[in-house]
Amino acid sequence: MKHLKYLLLIFSIISSAQQRIVKELDTNWKFQKGKSSEAYQVNFNDSNWEQVNVPHDWAIYGPFDKEVDKQTVAIIQNGEEVASEKTGRTGSLPHIGTAWYRNKFMIPEYEKGKKVILLFEGVMSEPKVYLNGKKIGEWAYGYSYFYFDISNFIEEGENTLAVEVSNPAFASRWYPGAGLYRKVSVIVKNKESINQWGTFITTPFINNELAKVNIKTKTSGENIQLITTIFNAEGTKVNSEKSTIKFNNEFDQNIKVKNPIVWSPENPYLYTAVSQLYEGDILKDEVSTRFGIREIKYEANKGFSLNGEIRKFKGVCLHHDLGPLGTAVNKAALRRQLTILKDMGCNAIRSSHNMPSLEQLELCDEMGFLFLAESFDEWAKPKVENGYNRFFEEYAEKDVVNLVHATRNHPSIVMWSAGNEVPDQWGSEGVKRAKWLQDIFHREDPTRPVTVGMDQVKATMESGFGALLDIPGLNYRVHLYEEAFDKFPQGFILGSETASTVSSRGIYKFPVEKLSMKQYSDFQSSSYDLEYCSWSNLPDEDFVLQDDKPWVIGEFVWTGFDYLGEPTPYDESWPSRSSYFGISDLAGLPKDRFYLYRSRWNTTDETLHILPHWNWKGREGEKTPIFVYTNYNSAELFVNGKSMGVQKKNNSTSQNRYRLMWMDVNYEPGTLKVVALNEEGEPVAEKEIKTAGKPYKIVLNPDKKTINADGKDIVFVEVSVVDKKGNPCPTATNQLKFKVKGKGVYRAACNGDATSLELFHLPTMKLFSGKLVVLVQSIDEAGSINLQVTGKGLKSAKLDINSTD
Ligand code: GAL
Repeated sequence: MKHLKYLLLIFSIISSAQQRIVKELDTNWKFQKGKSSEAYQVNFNDSNWEQVNVPHDWAIYGPFDKEVDKQTVAIIQNGEEVASEKTGRTGSLPHIGTAWYRNKFMIPEYEKGKKVILLFEGVMSEPKVYLNGKKIGEWAYGYSYFYFDISNFIEEGENTLAVEVSNPAFASRWYPGAGLYRKVSVIVKNKESINQWGTFITTPFINNELAKVNIKTKTSGENIQLITTIFNAEGTKVNSEKSTIKFNNEFDQNIKVKNPIVWSPENPYLYTAVSQLYEGDILKDEVSTRFGIREIKYEANKGFSLNGEIRKFKGVCLHHDLGPLGTAVNKAALRRQLTILKDMGCNAIRSSHNMPSLEQLELCDEMGFLFLAESFDEWAKPKVENGYNRFFEEYAEKDVVNLVHATRNHPSIVMWSAGNEVPDQWGSEGVKRAKWLQDIFHREDPTRPVTVGMDQVKATMESGFGALLDIPGLNYRVHLYEEAFDKFPQGFILGSETASTVSSRGIYKFPVEKLSMKQYSDFQSSSYDLEYCSWSNLPDEDFVLQDDKPWVIGEFVWTGFDYLGEPTPYDESWPSRSSYFGISDLAGLPKDRFYLYRSRWNTTDETLHILPHWNWKGREGEKTPIFVYTNYNSAELFVNGKSMGVQKKNNSTSQNRYRLMWMDVNYEPGTLKVVALNEEGEPVAEKEIKTAGKPYKIVLNPDKKTINADGKDIVFVEVSVVDKKGNPCPTATNQLKFKVKGKGVYRAACNGDATSLELFHLPTMKLFSGKLVVLVQSIDEAGSINLQVTGKGLKSAKLDINSTD
């Protein structure tokens, strides 16, 4: 891998002078909230504007405010008929309104006659873009990648870019973020060059000896020829082809790869194609594209197969916000999420309900995740007043085309989604729209199928909507799977969205019972994992379908992590401002549910997890059920050495099939011990938790100890407290303070409490259920970084982090 990087670096150094320059505009931005009729002008005085880096989310710094985007609505897809006041629906952070970004940049390599592209990977939302005082274009959808050809606007010397961004109220069902939240870059190239997103790599034939790699390359310029060279992951040249014939503006090459190594979640092996465009002997352009050699199939009654092997999607849906970082994309935060999910045994991600960041796709390629890339939450019919319905007619095709062109070479993507629970599921126009969108996907990418997440399953059975899709995706509605399988012609069903079980990390409610839309006075949900929504169900119900029906091709659980906004079942309860659906919380800390999924999905590592915690002062002698999530079939439980009996998974209920439950345990402080048993009844593993004493000492547990000195990398430090004997204190709520010294900065903290109004970027926060996470970011200089965490009456803790170039 190192070798390849070195090689590509050499390539780009040699070629950069005359060929392609990619300049990311990440620093030197000026930002101001509010309208301005002059901010587009070159000589506008922005000297007292805030200096920011991009990616940037202006709203994440708060404050939380109940009035922000307060929506008095009935949420039809939740079955509501009467409007009510929804306070935290979009996160209660100040994302509404207009703002301006300005950037003065120079591109020394630019000279007249060059082709220049300005690329945005996502702007929230409705950007209007000006260069050197002239409007160069605009876009609408906040999740799209888009670019403008600015060849006629750019100047030698200094250029002034100004972007106006506007977020209307009532435009979203979750926290959308605000501003230039993904990368902005300028690409300078020759007239004779490879078009933006002009490369399309597929692998139409694969066997053990040989793969055919088809590479279509769209270009500009006459009298040009293309040499494409494929390198393997070790950087060794595999094969190369020279083409002189273009079909219109497209080269079409088939390159042989001998003994191909196929891409899969278990072995995410990546090749690189280096496309070099020549005019005569002169190298005019060069683009590197990573790809995987892999085969996907969806077949009636068999399901989904990757490289000939049937497998099910063990997937999660993810919103795009990164908790305390807001929506400003950050690769370290995405990598951490995927690392946590990988450990859970998750093999797939659905970018709900919009285009994923390119960083996330790169990581999924590298780390081995299958990807369902979604486009829209609305088509022409609204879910929210100012949603995508305003743009559908004008933009839907452009948005889909850009999604496909920008991301189609990622081997991780195995399916497109044209929409989620769109109200257009009703009526014949919706059927036509579904076909129209699916046809666009097919036209732009004939290799991947298209789904739509459907909640109006009965209606889509009647109308033909469900039958025409490549993949019928059911959101919830476990009771309709059989009928849908019968009625739909495809021969398989995808759980495009499942569970929506709700819980708060470390919070347990009594009595322990299955409850729909249950609310408590503290606005938390129980981590016994028995609470769900009126339209949804518990994880076990999905497991039954996944295990018993070969034609169910997998599931995407709502959601892998909590996200900002949509605090169901507390949509009407201030200060709830983030979701309760996550398998892990907003800080990325696993809830108990994490271990329930892990016990089923991670088939290589042991899972043996006990809940609840065992600090129940005041519950002595009261019934306090114990659940164990484990990959073992049975276990024996001991309370202070006394056996509570053996439990064995059984088919009496779906919960009994996947959880070990001791319902009649009475609480007494001390030690809980679970001993897992093998099929012969012999002990094979054990786990203990203890009643903790008073919080005594702070403990820090970083996800890594070395980071890159690039001003972007982040260490995530789990902070907890233990008693004098070292037992974790699961109910601690101490207020902590954070100080970062040396070559790094304090970036944010998050405790996962959906009702907390503490601001992420201030260096103090309360523990929630004994934990929180602190984010420490590098600066551009290498050196050591020191984090200190203190709390009243607690032994403080220090951590050294090494930041390297
Ligand atoms: C689904 C919807 C998601 C989310 C979820 C909550 O119906 O597609 O976006 O709202 O419900 O349960």
